Amino acid sequence: MAMQTQVMVKDVWKSFDGGRIEVLKGVTLEVAQGEVVALCGTSGCGKSTLLNVISGLEEVDRGMVRVAGREVGEEATRVDLLRHHIGYVFQLHHLMPDLTLAENCMVPVIAAGGGRSAGLARLQELAAATGVTARLGQRVRELSGGERQRGALVRSLMNDPELLLCDEPTGALDESNREKVFELLLELVRARGRTLVMATHDVELAGRCDRKVRMRDGRIEGEVR
Ligand SMILES: Nc1ncnc2c1ncn2[C@@H]1O[C@H](COP(=O)(O)OP(=O)(O)O)[C@@H](O)[C@H]1O
Ligand SMILES: [Mg+2]
Repeated sequence: MAMQTQVMVKDVWKSFDGGRIEVLKGVTLEVAQGEVVALCGTSGCGKSTLLNVISGLEEVDRGMVRVAGREVGEEATRVDLLRHHIGYVFQLHHLMPDLTLAENCMVPVIAAGGGRSAGLARLQELAAATGVTARLGQRVRELSGGERQRGALVRSLMNDPELLLCDEPTGALDESNREKVFELLLELVRARGRTLVMATHDVELAGRCDRKVRMRDGRIEGEVR
């Protein structure tokens, strides 16, 4: 089977504050369909920014980003990819505190124009897998950190995305929850041959991915396979 490229980042530069803050300084990275990649490096090296440019949430200054062979750039493409192709787990869960967990999880289904009953069935399945079934009807502000993070994982997977981008998905969790959420993440991704790019500074978790890509000061420093 030929390996298909899921993510192609080519010589990407990204700065903030009118060019005063250079964050990505010529990043090139290719991720094949089905790969589980850890993006490592100390805080501030540009991991979140790289995930944001892959998802199209941030525009690049120079260079090229392609997801599933489509150039991320034009708004129509970006929106389409975000709706139908990409799942995102943010460093801070970004769930809406006054909506219930179930309501939060249905947002991406609605955005993608999916059917309500299929969405609810999927929600039950993922909630059972992540252990948040009993929390679905509760407002997010009433949930613990671990429950929110698992809830964010459920939400990111609602449309069964081909590409899952996770930004320190276990960063806010204690040891036992960290382990559970990470195991679950791997299981869900691997079972369906999905692609995962996960930013983490957790060396132990990174070691369990197929591939470790190390970043330093806005550049890819090295790869450990
Ligand atoms: N919107 C922004 N405006 C200005 N600086 C930013 C912005 N986003 C990120 N940065 C800066 O870019 C650098 C890399 O940030 P980030 O990508 O969040 O790193 P990491 O996720 O590896 O900790 C940091 O110095 C951060 O302060
Ligand atoms: Mg970050």
